[in-house]
Amino acid sequence: MARLLILAPLRGVTIRCFRTAFAGPIRAAGFTEAVTPFIPAAAGYDPLKDRELGGGASAAVVPRPDLPVTPQFIGKDPAALRVALERIKAAGYERADLNCGCPFPMVRNKGRGAGLLRTPDVLRRLLEVGCATMGDGNFSVKARLGVERPDELLRLMPLINAFPLRFLAVHARTARQMYAGVCDRAAFDAIRAAANVPLVANGDLETTDAVAGTVGTMVGRAFIRALGERDDIGELLDGYVAASAAELCGERPVLGRLKELLGYWKDSPRWRRRWQVAKMARSLAEIRVW
Ligand SMILES: Cc1cc2nc3c(=O)[nH]c(=O)nc-3n(C[C@H](O)[C@H](O)[C@H](O)COP(=O)(O)O)c2cc1C
Repeated sequence: MARLLILAPLRGVTIRCFRTAFAGPIRAAGFTEAVTPFIPAAAGYDPLKDRELGGGASAAVVPRPDLPVTPQFIGKDPAALRVALERIKAAGYERADLNCGCPFPMVRNKGRGAGLLRTPDVLRRLLEVGCATMGDGNFSVKARLGVERPDELLRLMPLINAFPLRFLAVHARTARQMYAGVCDRAAFDAIRAAANVPLVANGDLETTDAVAGTVGTMVGRAFIRALGERDDIGELLDGYVAASAAELCGERPVLGRLKELLGYWKDSPRWRRRWQVAKMARSLAEIRVW
């Protein structure tokens, strides 16, 4: 099987509109697929109405990106997950992913995201539902090493190995680390030694990195940072602004979206001073620093 290079879910950044506006660089970098930023799997929430899957105004203005996309769900209710998965399956999505990595205390303390690493019985039921609904080899998991300690996921490997997952993507940090500090490669190696499911490496990797013993790499921030150095970045940003303005209501949310992206470039010599201007911008005219 060819190695996977998966565009990481970055909520607010690698969103559907971004994946369309930056489809050229995404393809050129060799990405084989993307996992969407998380979509709630909660009673009464229709995933097909989520902007990520084409709901809302975006369906009319943003064509479906040509990159295969796996919707990612966050939640802890197996019944709600089943309903959400059946819904996307009926709409033609063949794969889905479960978020076991969201580190925010408000999420994890309620047993969602990385919090699932602390509730193995709930995790087991979610994996049962995911694999049964999507079919063998079509459901994946994205997880952290643990909540507080880097061996919590390792202890769950007997449970996880029992499921026919497409892959287990491991961000080699604990939830407590959030996005800072270094990745724990030794803890990742221990998971690799214990895993019977295909593994995907994630965390501070470049698109050109290949980690031995894995089926692929998932990359987020390194790719986003590199975009800022492209010669055609102005053109790409203009496209992103236009597509965002078409799907959002008013300038303010478009500005928020742009600041989220431009913030990744604030340490680059090319962007440092532009970022100082952009972060204060209160209109689209002001933020056009490129
Ligand atoms: C702003 C931001 C939003 C993120 N949103 C999600 C998300 O929705 N789902 C998820 O599984 N991970 C999410 N992550 C984690 C990334 O997918 C990835 O695991 C992490 O950034 C490490 O990979 P990287 O160093 O290649 O960026 C997010 C990370 C950031 C920085």
